[in-house]
Amino acid sequence: MAPDENAARTAQRIKAIVEPQAAAGGYMDHEPGNPAVRVTRESVTRALHAAGLGAGDTVLFHSSLSSMGTVVGGADAEVGGDDAGASNADTRTGGAETVIDGFLDAVGPTGTVAVPTLCSWQALTEKLRVWRLWNVAETPTYCGLIPETFRRRPNALRSNHYTHSVSAIGAQAGDLTADHGVSGPRESPWGPGAFAAASPWQRLYDWNAFCCLIGVNCQRLTMVHFVETHLVHRALARAAPKRRDELLGEVRGWTRTGIWPGISTAKRLIAEEIFAERGLLRYGKIGSARLRHMRIQPVVDEWIALAERDPAYWCSDGFVKWLDRL
Ligand SMILES: CC(C)(COP(=O)(O)OP(=O)(O)OC[C@H]1O[C@@H](n2cnc3c(N)ncnc32)[C@H](O)[C@@H]1OP(=O)(O)O)[C@@H](O)C(=O)NCCC(=O)NCCS
Repeated sequence: MAPDENAARTAQRIKAIVEPQAAAGGYMDHEPGNPAVRVTRESVTRALHAAGLGAGDTVLFHSSLSSMGTVVGGADAEVGGDDAGASNADTRTGGAETVIDGFLDAVGPTGTVAVPTLCSWQALTEKLRVWRLWNVAETPTYCGLIPETFRRRPNALRSNHYTHSVSAIGAQAGDLTADHGVSGPRESPWGPGAFAAASPWQRLYDWNAFCCLIGVNCQRLTMVHFVETHLVHRALARAAPKRRDELLGEVRGWTRTGIWPGISTAKRLIAEEIFAERGLLRYGKIGSARLRHMRIQPVVDEWIALAERDPAYWCSDGFVKWLDRL
């Protein structure tokens, strides 16, 4: 069977399994945790080493703290009490600190740990005022308690982008977070800087960083937007030079409507199944949570290849019509 045909059949099969669950909303949120499972800093490090993360590596992780069970933290961690839990206020941030420390231990002093510290400015009025609203030191992230705790650490560096910032600690944190969007612009619904050539997202790809999802699935993989951005700009590169400006003008921007590949959340689940089948994404365990882990480069490359082979399956109708006009 030709590889294209094979891919199409695989996608069809997975569609039949996964889409009804996605339509029912079953995959949208994080997994429920099992509070009886106790998670320590050491057990986080052990789980990451078992997954293949090593000293000196760079890792980005998306997370749901509650999916992990009861993460020992704060005062409880110091006394090592068995009754550690989410019940007292100190423990709330303490659990997040424990996970962060577990990651830092896993990569050691020569490694780098990064988290998405995204912000959301939905309304047009907010978008127009974002230059005043965005504060790299203070604007909270909606990505969960772990990233919010992470970005507040004194040694954390945060990239300067109003929607798609990344925060990092470690040896390469400075290089990873520097000059977000300052050069190599690529138009996108989050502005030309979010997934620019100079951005942490491009560097995570270039460095083939390790990526983890804790208790959440590929619907939460921000790299999907990096893939979408590349689909648009690779297509523009194929267009006749004299038409590029006109076609670029039709792409959705920060305050401009337009075409976008828009890989749906259901399709992201199908992509996850394909990556797992091809050995590009693997599953482990971290506390009670499922740990999904991968190297970024092969996953992004595979996703771009899938979408370029079959844009009508993966992308929005508007984008496909735009491609037809190239
Ligand atoms: C939204 C999301 C973060 C919610 O997950 P969550 O587990 O409910 O929330 P958090 O990770 O913020 O953890 C806080 C919760 O953990 C629990 N918790 C607190 N301390 C804990 C501890 N020590 N041990 C275990 N659980 C604890 C509490 O239920 C707490 O909820 P509360 O703030 O309402 O009290 C998750 O579903 C998600 O989407 N994560 C990925 C986000 C992302 O990276 N997005 C990228 C772009 S889409």
